Amino acid sequence: MATALIVLAAGKGTRMQSDLPKVLHPIGAAPLLLHALSAGGALDPDRTVVVAGHGADLVEKSALGFDDRITVVRQTEQLGTAHAVAQARPALEGFTGDAVVLYGDTPFITGDTLAAMVAARSDHDIVVLGFRAADPGRYGRLVMDGDALSAIVEFKDADDATRAIDLCNSGVIAADADTLFSLIDAVGNDNASGEYYLTDIVGLARARGLSATVVTCDESETLGINTRAELAAAETAFQARMRAQALADGVTIPAPDTVIFAHDTYIGADALIEPYVVFAPGVTVESGATIRAFSHLEGCHVSRGAVVGPYARLRPGAELAENAKVGNFTEIKNATLAEGAKVNHLSYIGDATIGARANIGAGTITCNYDGVFKYRTTVGDDAFIGSNTMLVAPVTVGARALTGSGSVITQDVQAEALAIARARQVNKPGLAQRLMDKLKALKAAKTKDH
Ligand code: UD1
Ligand code: CA
Repeated sequence: MATALIVLAAGKGTRMQSDLPKVLHPIGAAPLLLHALSAGGALDPDRTVVVAGHGADLVEKSALGFDDRITVVRQTEQLGTAHAVAQARPALEGFTGDAVVLYGDTPFITGDTLAAMVAARSDHDIVVLGFRAADPGRYGRLVMDGDALSAIVEFKDADDATRAIDLCNSGVIAADADTLFSLIDAVGNDNASGEYYLTDIVGLARARGLSATVVTCDESETLGINTRAELAAAETAFQARMRAQALADGVTIPAPDTVIFAHDTYIGADALIEPYVVFAPGVTVESGATIRAFSHLEGCHVSRGAVVGPYARLRPGAELAENAKVGNFTEIKNATLAEGAKVNHLSYIGDATIGARANIGAGTITCNYDGVFKYRTTVGDDAFIGSNTMLVAPVTVGARALTGSGSVITQDVQAEALAIARARQVNKPGLAQRLMDKLKALKAAKTKDH
């Protein structure tokens, strides 16, 4: 059966107190919207339509960045969830199959839950995702009649008996697309909010002799974000899940509560992640690598046996081959370290290719930027870069070459050559003591004057 996803993301999210549209606020360094889209991805949808309104241009950019086959439609006035779904109709012209409605601000729905809903569709015309709420608050209430769902009643429109129901509407709904749009045509706005409620389709369906049912999931899955506090709580829940998953996958993490993951962090079994490590997006760490304490990694790849940190920063494009080492207070950006290469202390290696087993001395800097253009540095296999070498790119140091400490290397160095590019040292016997005596005499004369 073909599936279309409709993701509602037009709301302003007033309570976020933000210029950024609510669905673009991040969890695990990815916008809420991307979490919703990747959850929906479990259904392998044939079409995806995002309904945008507030900040629609930004929302569109984010959605297309995730998958450029997504259609983004505009809902210029937020007249309610049914009205929002109706905006997706032209984009689904000619589509036959099931439509699944998700909210862009509800990031934690699992693929299994969506699969259970699709499975339940074989026996029912409409499937609604519900949950038992510890505190049902202002959620819509699911009114059951045995196994059948007879209606969804919004909190504002509910009487006391209905408000006492703890089975709540998550907002996720699955139905045949034609049936869904035909029911939406019949939805009015004569209710406490004056909005077109998507939830009304259940009562309308029952009146047409169609069947509806509920699939339930854990409340934690349906957590929607409305405030900064809820966003922070969701981040906490997300991090807890990522840590538990990494531990279950065989990663060694002695202080899991101090490690921060991004949504797409990948770490192989038997890797060691020491305390206070932050993973920004796009990081893969292979089995048996070590990330030592207080390191920050983004958009990089760390191979087996490599060691990073403590206090290291790997920026996008950092690629560490097996057994490479990046030590304390070292930054690597858009650079490849071949097998066994070492950059152990206080260095910046940017836009560079470092050969196998090359040793980069403490304080080495690749001077890669002239204020306008960026240039590459290449260091050959087994080269030895002396401490505090400035490698002024574009420049190449050949295999097994050596640079003297404190050199400013502006020209290529041939393989196996020694390059020294610094002023020659001059020693003046006795001059230090004579200089000191002179300065002390000067100070004594000044003190006397006062
Ligand atoms: C909705 C449900 C309620 C359910 C709750 C779960 C309705 C009428 N009510 O209520 O039963 O318990 O979600 O969180 O559906 N949106 C648009 N355009 C609109 C209105 C909303 O895109 O015109 C989007 C919002 O951005 C949001 C989602 O739809 O992502 C839900 O809207 P919201 O106003 O938060 O619905 P609730 O009142 O919470
Ligand atoms: Ca809401």
